[in-house]
Amino acid sequence: MPKAEQVQNVFRSVARRYDLANRAISLGRDESWRRDVVHMAVARKPRVVLDLATGSGDLAFALRKAMPEEVTVSGLDFCEPMLEQARAKQARRPWAASIRFYQGDCMALPLPDSSVDVLTIAWGLRNLEDRGAGLAQMHRVLRPGGVLYCLEASQPHRLVRRPYYLYLDHVVPMIARLITGQRGAYEYLANTIGSFPDRELLSDEMRLAGFGSVTTHPRMFGGICIHEAVKAGPRPAQ
Ligand SMILES: C[S@@+](CC[C@H](N)C(=O)[O-])C[C@H]1O[C@@H](n2cnc3c(N)ncnc32)[C@H](O)[C@@H]1O
Repeated sequence: MPKAEQVQNVFRSVARRYDLANRAISLGRDESWRRDVVHMAVARKPRVVLDLATGSGDLAFALRKAMPEEVTVSGLDFCEPMLEQARAKQARRPWAASIRFYQGDCMALPLPDSSVDVLTIAWGLRNLEDRGAGLAQMHRVLRPGGVLYCLEASQPHRLVRRPYYLYLDHVVPMIARLITGQRGAYEYLANTIGSFPDRELLSDEMRLAGFGSVTTHPRMFGGICIHEAVKAGPRPAQ
């Protein structure tokens, strides 16, 4: 089965309980990491913001709340059941009515070149069929001076690597089975972390995709990392 189809099936199967599972697996820390991304993004004073692999939309909601009203905030995902969760939450949050949640593939972004100021992607990059090609798409749609914020699992400091992987391989699938009934889905997700590059290698991949400067912001002994990748070139005058 192609990886994209496998990933869609995984998220289709957990969509309804995704938020709860996420909170439990991250020990309630996921919201504070998203908040860190939002603080960095706000400081860039963007006009157009797009949250990729938005899933149930939590990062898009946090961005909407923090950005001035005139800023356009959208969320894109290729899994309709995850987007349905985002839209259901939106219906209960009148302040978030302006967010456009739409279906799209990070591997073929349905956007013109140089049309976005800030892109965010939280726990999405790891799932892409071809990471290099996906990063090149992100670079293409960002304006010069635009920034990609990637929040993702990473390889932690070697002293905590063993307990980290014990947690991922044994505790996460157990929590996931209790909450979503889908142990296998989370075994797959945990396995993808093991083969994911560490933060220096991922920075290199981002540079290879065209990004001019890449800064890393590790969290949890490096088990989580925010990459801040800037597309070279002056930002057009406001
Ligand atoms: C782990 S969830 C992350 C959701 C959300 N960003 C969050 O912070 O909780 C990963 C999401 O990536 C989406 N995804 C994976 N590959 C994608 C692709 N090629 N294009 C669009 N969405 C994709 C999945 O459908 C899923 O909703």
